[in-house]
Amino acid sequence: MYRTALGRAHCADSLEHMAVEADGSVDLVMTSPPYALHFKKEYGNADQADYVDWFLPFAHEIKRILKPDGSFVLNVGGAWTPGAPERSLYHFRLLLALCDQVGFHLCQEFFWYNPAKLPAPAEWVNVRRVRVKDSVEYIFWLSPTAHPRADNSRVLQAYSKDMERLIRRGIKETKRPSGHLVKPSFAVDKGGSIPPNLIECGNNESNSFYIRESKRLGKKVHPARFPAELPRFFIEFLTQPGDVVLDPFAGSNMTGSVAEQLGRKWVAIERSEEYLRDSQLRFQDNEPAAVDKSNKPSQKLLFRGA
Ligand SMILES: C[S@@+](CC[C@H](N)C(=O)[O-])C[C@H]1O[C@@H](n2cnc3c(N)ncnc32)[C@H](O)[C@@H]1O
Repeated sequence: MYRTALGRAHCADSLEHMAVEADGSVDLVMTSPPYALHFKKEYGNADQADYVDWFLPFAHEIKRILKPDGSFVLNVGGAWTPGAPERSLYHFRLLLALCDQVGFHLCQEFFWYNPAKLPAPAEWVNVRRVRVKDSVEYIFWLSPTAHPRADNSRVLQAYSKDMERLIRRGIKETKRPSGHLVKPSFAVDKGGSIPPNLIECGNNESNSFYIRESKRLGKKVHPARFPAELPRFFIEFLTQPGDVVLDPFAGSNMTGSVAEQLGRKWVAIERSEEYLRDSQLRFQDNEPAAVDKSNKPSQKLLFRGA
């Protein structure tokens, strides 16, 4: 449908389109497919019972087009069993099938903590008050190998105040109650702290050019957009400038827009003509997407991750 300096966006069913992408041509597949939600979004969601069967053909194509040391980052939200305060196991079943049937390796699971999530389902959380707010989504980092290309020094976070003080003052060798030996080298400035596998970010895009222009032009804003921080973190962690990032469920093409900003080539596939057409707004903007490089977790996590 459109091209930019570094990318191309295809309006197509991604199962059909991925078939024409070459074997081993992609460094990172970063995506969020429709989840198995009981209350379906406007773009349609597969049912919990059919979800694994629905997704596996996409997963086989993703594995084929990935480079042998590339990565597949999959964001899936949890779901509730209809009519009961009971969690669905669909995403765990999916993960097992991706590893056991498709042959992916689980490199690490991440959690996206969105403090702005609304309490739901209302019946169990707000009315009967027998469950709490569900504020995390799963992100499975998979690869055809257990050793995909990755470098956490590209996603370091700002040191906490405590860590800055330790770096300034230095520390003596001590043994923690846990038995861990903390050596003076712990307090050497390595440019930032190693991030944890918890990514804290809300969907704070409310004032972006894409949202403002969509509203001004009377267009529909995509109902389930990535915050820029999610693709930013994984693109920097798992790829280098010039590498290829592909999103087979591109929606408003946040993945492509962040990839372009970071100098990566990108391929977006989205079957809704309307979403994809409107996603071009992300590239007509002179303000970069709100990529928050600080990924501010709580002080405790910063310290644990240091
Ligand atoms: C959760 S949304 C992705 C949103 C995206 N991460 C963003 O930042 O805007 C999932 C998208 O997948 C699209 N989709 C569903 N099935 C598809 C298919 N078979 N091929 C291509 N796109 C599909 C839907 O239209 C929807 O826009």
